[in-house]
Amino acid sequence: MLTRLEIDSELYLSVLDQNDAAALALYLNEKEIYDRTLQIPFPYSEADAHWFIAHCEQLQQAHGHVINWAIRLKTGELIGGIGFHCKNTVTPIAHRDEVGYWVAKPYWNKGIMSRVLPVVCAYGRDVRGLRRIEAPIYAWNIGSEKVLLKSGFRQEGYLCKSYFKNNTFHDAKIFALIY
Ligand SMILES: CC(C)(COP(=O)(O)OP(=O)(O)OC[C@H]1O[C@@H](n2cnc3c(N)ncnc32)[C@H](O)[C@@H]1OP(=O)(O)O)[C@@H](O)C(=O)NCCC(=O)NCCS
Repeated sequence: MLTRLEIDSELYLSVLDQNDAAALALYLNEKEIYDRTLQIPFPYSEADAHWFIAHCEQLQQAHGHVINWAIRLKTGELIGGIGFHCKNTVTPIAHRDEVGYWVAKPYWNKGIMSRVLPVVCAYGRDVRGLRRIEAPIYAWNIGSEKVLLKSGFRQEGYLCKSYFKNNTFHDAKIFALIY
C-alpha cells in the first residue's frame, strides 16, 4: 500500500497516527476552520482527534488504500489534512469521491494546498481509479475556490441555501475534476 506521497522539498503526505492527536487538536480547534468546513467539530479536543485517526485507519483497511493524508513539513510536523469522504464509495472500485482539506491557520496563503491538492487528485485517479472528484464549498469560501480552480476543478453548480450552519443558511458551489 502506498503510504507516503512527496510534494516538494518542503512538504510530504503520509498516514495519520495516534501521535498526531495533539497537533490535530491544536490546529483544528480553530473557529475559522470550523466555519469553512462541514464535518469538523468545534471546539476540537484530543478525544475528537483520536476518534478521527481511528476512523481513518478503519477506512484505510476497508478500502485497501490510504484515504486521508496528513500534510507534513519535512520535519514530520503535521500542518494540515486532506482526504476523501467515501460517502458513495462502499467498494474500492467506486469511480467518484468527494475531497476535503484544511491547512493549519499559521500556514495559510503560502501556496500549500495549491501544491497538495493536485497530487492527491492524481493519486485518487491513478491508485483508486477515480474518474470524478467532487468538492462542494460554501459559496463565500474564496480561498478554497481559488485552490480548486488552480487544480483543474470546474464549477458545475450553484446551490442556494444548501447548508445551514451557525444559525445561517449558506449557498454552496459544487466543483468537480473529471478524468
Ligand atoms: C482553503 C485553504 C485550504 C487554502 O489553503 P492555502 O494553503 O492557504 O491555499 P493557497 O496558499 O494555496 O492559496 C491559493 C489561493 O487562494 C488565495 N486565498 C487563500 N485564502 C484566501 C482567502 N481567505 N481569501 C481570498 N483568497 C485566498 C491565495 O492568496 C492563493 O491565491 P493565488 O493563487 O492567486 O496566489 C485554507 O485556507 C484552509 O484551510 N481554510 C479552512 C478550511 C477550508 O476552507 N477547507 C476547505 C473546505 S471546502
